[in-house]
Amino acid sequence: MADTKVYRASTTAPVNIAVVKYWGKRDPKLNLPTNSSLSVTLSQDDLRTLTTASCSSAYKEDTLLLNGSPSDLTGARTQACLRELRSRRAALESNDASLPKLSTMPLLLVSENNFPTAAGLASSAAGFAALVRATADLYELPASPTELSLIARQGSGSACRSLFGGYVAWRHGSQADGLDSKAVEVAPASHWPTMRALILVVSAAKKGVSSTSGMQQTVATSGLFKQRIADVVPANMETMEAAIAAKDFAKFAEVTMRDSNSFHATCADTYPPIFYMNDVSRAAVRAVEAINAAAGRTVAAYTFDAGPNAVIYYLEEDKETILGTFYPLLQDTDGWKDGAKVFKTSVELDEAVA
Ligand code: ADP
Ligand code: DP6
Ligand code: CO
Repeated sequence: MADTKVYRASTTAPVNIAVVKYWGKRDPKLNLPTNSSLSVTLSQDDLRTLTTASCSSAYKEDTLLLNGSPSDLTGARTQACLRELRSRRAALESNDASLPKLSTMPLLLVSENNFPTAAGLASSAAGFAALVRATADLYELPASPTELSLIARQGSGSACRSLFGGYVAWRHGSQADGLDSKAVEVAPASHWPTMRALILVVSAAKKGVSSTSGMQQTVATSGLFKQRIADVVPANMETMEAAIAAKDFAKFAEVTMRDSNSFHATCADTYPPIFYMNDVSRAAVRAVEAINAAAGRTVAAYTFDAGPNAVIYYLEEDKETILGTFYPLLQDTDGWKDGAKVFKTSVELDEAVA
């Protein structure tokens, strides 16, 4: 009788929010970046993707259900991930005839994000990290986080950083095959465990310009972008890594805010311009400046991905100042009253991601 058994594996993956942003591809096919980037992986206790991968010869075709709706699986980047995972499974099967032939069966991927999708909160990062790891687990691949990260990068660049906890750099690399374009943990979460993030969901709506399309328009049309790649990012990477090593929050915060500003400036310099931040985002910038001025030192840092939602990094010891400032504001500001949601979170531990 034909094997119609359903094989299944589930996993979760965390979001990461860059403090030095990836924006630009030097090779759109392999998803190789124009610049290195650095992020903090946020705790899966608060924001996460949950993905179940299953396969069965009883299934008709590869299917992705994202947040309950059928979603496109035919895109070249998703296909690149699935092709790579299947070929690794096929290699195992050809060495061991007793293994079920999962590589030939249609896949069903059921995925759910517990935070807004495509709204500038790194859903593509958690999403592709979870998709790749769930499928690798289903196929029982003996793959390291680094190998899975290289596959996830092909799905979405930022996803390569979500396979690691703590503080993670994605080195741009220079090889044409992309094998040296890798994410590495620069410090474990335990190195600086008091780091916290406050996420202000200004809007949960899907962004008008996807990250993939936005960065391609920037690379093609922005003059400012050239300066960002040549000078701004290399300096920010160096200062940021030193700030993390020294646990220097003031430096960490300054580079985080400057890099976010530089990234959004290149978006504004794109022709036609791209605006991800809105008036409420800009109010969050001013609120952080006011908190820092009132404290007489730097206690908070804002950063915005490709969307209007603010991520505010701060340290546990300044919790009262930060939350005391933002919670009343959430009540009083029109933009944050309706549908606003606040996530408070910490840094994901490395052990939880292995
Ligand atoms: P974000 O800022 O949320 O990362 P992007 O524009 O980079 O937004 O990517 C959003 C896209 O990522 C979605 O339209 C979808 O194609 C993909 N994506 C998001 N979540 C998942 C998931 N859980 N599984 C698979 N793909 C996902
Ligand atoms: C602003 O990784 O979403 O969040 O590789 O095209 O899927 P694709 O883009 P994506 O871009 C993320 C851009 C960013 C900055 C960052 O996360 O480093
Ligand atoms: Co994304």
